[in-house]
Amino acid sequence: MKNLKIYLLVLLSLFGACNSLLMAENHAMEAKKVILLVAFGTSVPEANVAYQNIDDEFRKAFPNQEIRWAYTSKMIRTKLKKSGIHFDSPAEALAKLGEQGFTHVYVQSLHIIPGDEYHWLLTTASRFNNMPKGLKVTVASSPLLVTHNDMLLASKAIIENLPAERKASEAVVFMGHGSHHGSNIYYSGLQYYLWQHDKYIYVGTVEGAPELEDVIGHLEKNKIKKVWLMPLMAVAGDHAKNDMAGSEEDSWKSVLENKGYQVHVVLKGMAEYDNVVDIWIKHLLEKYDI
Ligand code: CO
Repeated sequence: MKNLKIYLLVLLSLFGACNSLLMAENHAMEAKKVILLVAFGTSVPEANVAYQNIDDEFRKAFPNQEIRWAYTSKMIRTKLKKSGIHFDSPAEALAKLGEQGFTHVYVQSLHIIPGDEYHWLLTTASRFNNMPKGLKVTVASSPLLVTHNDMLLASKAIIENLPAERKASEAVVFMGHGSHHGSNIYYSGLQYYLWQHDKYIYVGTVEGAPELEDVIGHLEKNKIKKVWLMPLMAVAGDHAKNDMAGSEEDSWKSVLENKGYQVHVVLKGMAEYDNVVDIWIKHLLEKYDI
């Protein structure tokens, strides 16, 4: 009988010890969330107003939430480093967040299409998931244009953001980045959605298809005289400033002017418009439930 009592006592204290160990473990596992905003990056200081707007809008949508940034472009990060500005790559940022005790990282891609940059980001984020003593969950949320609903929202926002002075007979030409990645098709996809609203809006790209020549074909066919040029990129950075609006002969502005079009430039990145940023925020809200 006495032996049984001792046995029970030992068993009970063991149970207690296990319990407190479990509690300690649970305590260590307490969720510490962080949002990691990941953009391509820009080396043009004035273009930062667009990223600043994203930062402001995300902080409004996710109050009291830790928010960090990373740039996917190594070229941009190297360029910035030379002027003493450091930006983390996604891998650097995730490693730091793990070290700082964050458990749940919500990675938001601020890219336009799900191209190379986004897919590399997905791979990087997945490598950091469930690392021993590291991050337990990393959720990567999609770029601007992916689903049918994204297209409806984005085309509506783009229409709302057209300059008020633009007349219905004038064309608006958007310069997208373009990609050799299969998702380049999203530019033609967006064109389809935009045409449901306005037949004189055209989408071209610098590094993919459709090209400026395709756009010019439409301008000629429709006997357009005046063209508004706008970037279809998050920031009005290097491409917008130089390839779109630059004074060099091969800029879109020069090419169109040399063909006799009257050209008006709007140097404003997509992310400067709140209704565009709202789409990225919506994507993150859909994932943000842990
Ligand atoms: Co480029």
